[in-house]
Amino acid sequence: MKLSEQKKALACAVKAARAVGKLMRQNLRLSKKVNLATAHDIKLELDVRSQKLIEKMLFASFPKVAVLGEEGVSGNQEAEQRWVVDPIDGTVNFTYEIPHACVSIALQVKDAKTGEYQTVVGVVYDPFCDELWTAIRGQPARLNGTIIRVSQRKSLGEAIVSIGFAKSSSNLERTLPYFNKLVRKVRKVRLMGAAALALTYVASGRFDAYVEQGIHLWDIAAGGLIVECAGGEFWHEPIPGDYAYRIVASNGLLRKKLQSF
Ligand code: IPD
Ligand code: CA
Repeated sequence: MKLSEQKKALACAVKAARAVGKLMRQNLRLSKKVNLATAHDIKLELDVRSQKLIEKMLFASFPKVAVLGEEGVSGNQEAEQRWVVDPIDGTVNFTYEIPHACVSIALQVKDAKTGEYQTVVGVVYDPFCDELWTAIRGQPARLNGTIIRVSQRKSLGEAIVSIGFAKSSSNLERTLPYFNKLVRKVRKVRLMGAAALALTYVASGRFDAYVEQGIHLWDIAAGGLIVECAGGEFWHEPIPGDYAYRIVASNGLLRKKLQSF
């Protein structure tokens, strides 16, 4: 895919992310229609409406590109290119009026040899802080237009590590023993509730790493590229079924230490 096409895709994704960001700002303090509430998760009618708005805007400029989103798929799922969309990441925060949530949009292209998708464009927008992270593979990551870099911290003792507790009870139980060890080794652990923002915080050097087991592709596709383009490492390993992954996103200096206990 040519750089000019990637730039066009980035501009289109930014426009869509800002449009949903506006909806999120308008709705934060209003009562919200809950479509589904489980033990550790909530799905809102606004999640669905936001994805529809994003799809409409993306399809208007890129009619042949498929969409794989948290709220469903559309277009030809065999297409060479697909958007990976999390319309509202941090839905539980958003439902509880906690202004820490974002929009995440990535463009992926299928590798002709391996048949695997690779993220080439990533956009994450925090409408409450008006922070927009962007990346095009091979170019520096940016926050509101300014180039960003990951942190240089080498020791766990100095590090702030963010951790995500996925939605299922089994993942939660698997994460707890790790959390128990981690919290003793690092300066601070942070559980902020929006994975895409945790990744962009790693990219910006605010966090030194982000760890989660059983996270979905739409939570990490854009943020993972942004981490890499900011000089960090986005280690991810697929867990069979449902686009789930184990991830350690870091400044590139801490992953082995974080996986050693
Ligand atoms: C969730 C959040 C959370 C993470 C979960 C995600 P959602 O996404 O990013 O921080 O721990 O794994 O599913 O449901 O708010 O879009
Ligand atoms: Ca999400």
